[in-house]
Amino acid sequence: MLEVEGLSAAYGRVQVLWDLSLKVEEGEFVALVGANGAGKTTLLRTISGVMRPSTGTITFLGKRIEAAHANDIVNMGLSHIPESRKLFTEMSIKENLEMGAYPRRSWKERRETMKWVFGLFPRLEERSKQLARTLSGGEQQMLAMGRGLMSKPKMVLIDEPSNGLAPKVVSEVFEILKSLHKEGITILLVEQNVRQTLNIADRAYVLENGRLVLQGVCSFLRESDHVRKAYLGV
Ligand SMILES: Nc1ncnc2c1ncn2[C@@H]1O[C@H](COP(=O)(O)OP(=O)(O)O)[C@@H](O)[C@H]1O
Ligand SMILES: [Mg+2]
Repeated sequence: MLEVEGLSAAYGRVQVLWDLSLKVEEGEFVALVGANGAGKTTLLRTISGVMRPSTGTITFLGKRIEAAHANDIVNMGLSHIPESRKLFTEMSIKENLEMGAYPRRSWKERRETMKWVFGLFPRLEERSKQLARTLSGGEQQMLAMGRGLMSKPKMVLIDEPSNGLAPKVVSEVFEILKSLHKEGITILLVEQNVRQTLNIADRAYVLENGRLVLQGVCSFLRESDHVRKAYLGV
């Protein structure tokens, strides 16, 4: 479904991604894990068309997208749920969700889609008129995910949904990711929370200093000496 080949990216003259290649098949739940500053967010921003790669290709559903406009990429069915949520804080839950339905294809169906999103996140429905800034951290993350789903994506890129949340809320967020996957949505999840991520994803890639250093099915990575020492503290 998504294929990245030989991708490099830089901020000005500072290169931060080096020759990355990765693949996500339709229906897979794939994770990208790595420490703070490894380049995870930069990779997602490059895939979603917010940033241009300096070399390499990105193919989504058989079409090359590395030069495509971010809006067109959303229209093709690839939605990016950004780091730190980026909500419209002075708008209500309902208005934030509507903003996520802007691709023409999904605007017409926004009422139906919102029902589906409220089914996944009942707490958002109870508070649909409340301003986004008044929500708890966990609720804000749910709203960010709900908004990202309003375009009816085939695949989502999710950047650190557990960041800054209390452990109990983190578990809730991971449960929601599992249910999205059950809904048939293909997922590329970026996380620093390596232990829980390796428990829910099918496969994972490990990114260090802008380079992919390890990849494999999660059960294999959990046993790897490098992953255990560097990320699991065992
Ligand atoms: N807007 C930016 N301008 C310059 N450097 C940046 C910018 N954003 C990130 N970087 C640098 O790129 C590297 C990778 O950052 P990032 O992709 O945010 O990593 P991660 O998401 O894994 O924490 C870091 O060294 C970071 O300082
Ligand atoms: Mg990041």
